[in-house]
Amino acid sequence: MLVITDPQKMRKYCASISRKGLSIGFVPTMGALHEGHLELVKAAKKRSDVVIVSIFVNPIQFGPKEDFKKYPRDIKKDAALLKKEKVDVLFNPSVEDMIPKDLLSYVEVGKMGDVLCGTSRPGHFRGVATIVAKFFNIIRPDTAFFGAKDFQQQAIIRKMVKDLDMGVEIVTVATVREKSGLAKSSRNAYLSAEQRAQAPALYASLLLAKRMIAAGEKSASKIIVAIKKNILSRTDFVVDYVSIVDSETFEEKKTIKRPVLIAVAAYLGKTRLIDNILV
Ligand code: PAJ
Repeated sequence: MLVITDPQKMRKYCASISRKGLSIGFVPTMGALHEGHLELVKAAKKRSDVVIVSIFVNPIQFGPKEDFKKYPRDIKKDAALLKKEKVDVLFNPSVEDMIPKDLLSYVEVGKMGDVLCGTSRPGHFRGVATIVAKFFNIIRPDTAFFGAKDFQQQAIIRKMVKDLDMGVEIVTVATVREKSGLAKSSRNAYLSAEQRAQAPALYASLLLAKRMIAAGEKSASKIIVAIKKNILSRTDFVVDYVSIVDSETFEEKKTIKRPVLIAVAAYLGKTRLIDNILV
């Protein structure tokens, strides 16, 4: 596995791959890799001649009070995992190279970035879209892989690619879960044993909503109340939001007309967990 840190070297390498007529599959990550990330890598391996994974904890997508400094970093362990998956290139640039102090140009994502997770994380999706656009410009991948766990993120990236004619195919990979149902996440590492035991309540509440809809419930507000009650019962969760929205526009739904996205975010202590299902 090649490890490249210099964006200019990365650009030259990718250009040479493309000139050979080989396809590039790209998996952007912030590291602290788990099986969720590796599922994206496996999907990329299946569909591309050359697979590039980036590890970059992107400062411009973290709010001033968020966990940028303490975000888990273990590049050695991550590199070993990627090598085992036969990844061709690990791109691990520095903050200085990717985010120069005089950075002026950003990708604005409009109202899609202001709802759901955008409400409590202002500017987050602008930071995500900007860094992903920079990676796309350096790597020029044929295909890029994102997880359904961050549903709003993959939808915003799809829209950016379409709006700005980037010509990258976006593939969304299903959420990988622990046996308990808890979605795998780098932030699960922050949880204490007690919090970890409570965390599966988030997904359980989404399954409850799915059952209510299957049984004919049409009122979004009734489902939202039931989800909140379920998350809070016998846990220390503090709910950030529970929303039922159109899966493409993210507009709030009052009555259920499939398909809908049910998305939740909640805090266990200082750790913010998110999950969603498409029904
Ligand atoms: P990160 O949180 O490291 O996630 C990288 C990719 O892995 C994202 O597409 C995310 O949706 C996916 N992923 C995480 N957990 C998953 C799970 N349990 N199942 C399936 N996929 C999962 O998301 C980011 O980094 C950043 O915002 C990034 C796109 C790299 C831009 O900085």
